[in-house]
Amino acid sequence: MTLLQNTPHKDYNQDSITLFTQDSGVDNSKYDFLGQSYSTLYPNLHKYPATMLPQIGLELLKDFKVKKTNLLDPYCGSGSSFVSGLEYGIKDFVGFDLNPLAIRISKAKITFIESNYLLQEKQKLLRQIHAQTQISLNSNPLANITNCDFWISKESQKDLVYIFFCIMQCKNEALQNLFILAFSETLREVSYTRNNEFKLFRMKDYESYKPDVYEVFSKNLESLIKNYLDFYQPKLREIKSLLINSNFKATKQKFDSILTSPPYGDSKTTVAYGQFSTFINEWLGFREARRLDSKLMGGKKAKNLYQKGVMREYITEINKKDSKRALEASSFYFDLQKSVEGLIDSINTQGKVFFIVGNRKVKGIELPTDAFIAEVFCQNSFRHLETIKRKISNKSMPLKNSPTNRAGILSDTMSYEYIVVCEKFKFT
Ligand SMILES: C[S@@+](CC[C@H](N)C(=O)[O-])C[C@H]1O[C@@H](n2cnc3c(N)ncnc32)[C@H](O)[C@@H]1O
Repeated sequence: MTLLQNTPHKDYNQDSITLFTQDSGVDNSKYDFLGQSYSTLYPNLHKYPATMLPQIGLELLKDFKVKKTNLLDPYCGSGSSFVSGLEYGIKDFVGFDLNPLAIRISKAKITFIESNYLLQEKQKLLRQIHAQTQISLNSNPLANITNCDFWISKESQKDLVYIFFCIMQCKNEALQNLFILAFSETLREVSYTRNNEFKLFRMKDYESYKPDVYEVFSKNLESLIKNYLDFYQPKLREIKSLLINSNFKATKQKFDSILTSPPYGDSKTTVAYGQFSTFINEWLGFREARRLDSKLMGGKKAKNLYQKGVMREYITEINKKDSKRALEASSFYFDLQKSVEGLIDSINTQGKVFFIVGNRKVKGIELPTDAFIAEVFCQNSFRHLETIKRKISNKSMPLKNSPTNRAGILSDTMSYEYIVVCEKFKFT
């Protein structure tokens, strides 16, 4: 790919894009990775909604010749961008996410644990679990789970508490984190939730569901550790620095690259990251677990319509059809703008940013989030290099949602993603 070639030269500083006639992005089938899933090259250590294929990030970093210094992902989810960075040769990573489960998965993927030690401790844990000794708890994590009996059978509850107690005996933080991820998958799998959905729905025939919790945990643990050792650990020895938490203001560091995929819209009407992660977040004592989706981008009600730049006409058009939905969409763009502006000072001159976004539909109107991102960066000392359009064939998310907000009325939401590439100005 040649920089700036085929780039649609829109002036994102001007409010000049006409509603419905815009066709953002240049098709580039190289980034489609048709037929490839996450597990093709990097089996995930824990399920997560709307993950990015690390192959995409790796290709971007190579094509745009990004400096191999450091990388920031401000909405890191399960940490796919770090895997891309690692493959490319970056050794210093910083990531943020408001979802505690996301932080755990990201950390697990890029924290080095020595193989023999890990395998020994795994055996020790499994032996302890199968010994089924008496335990005494300081506090019972079941008490954290809202409506616990509705979601988990009494029998499974007992087994889960025992397994968790054994995991807590391991005092090495990185090791404990890996074990907790296997536990988290188990918690969800043995609960009455329908397993192939991200939202929480109880299965119809829950009374006859009697999983063997120990067996499920052992299987999850073995598979997670195998994937960690086969696909991630061999590349982790070289990592120099790693910071992943929930508070972006915690770093004063400057970055040469951002590689990220922010949410497509508010969690309520797009992807419910909080709901997906509820059980483990509650189990571990995260008090905001049930309210997490409303804390994420676009989760709070806006009082005014978003009436700036490229998004103005679109929001106005939605407002003619449904004022509540227009306010919901506005809330997301107010938050996204604020969040992106908060990143500007953390990027070095000539630093590159890659935002992989989806242009969701609200009331049948496709919102040009890609153009919005480019516009916000261009108003803040960046130039737009390119927007690449790629087919979504492999994202782990529902491709349909209910833009009408009425159950059962579905429409295609997205079949493309846009990769917005911008670079910070060099003042001469
Ligand atoms: C599309 S997902 C990122 C997926 C990630 N690229 C991966 O491959 O796993 C978007 C993430 O943004 C997080 N998020 C939403 N609002 C946020 C906010 N205001 N600050 C930080 N993270 C946020 C969500 O928790 C979610 O993990």
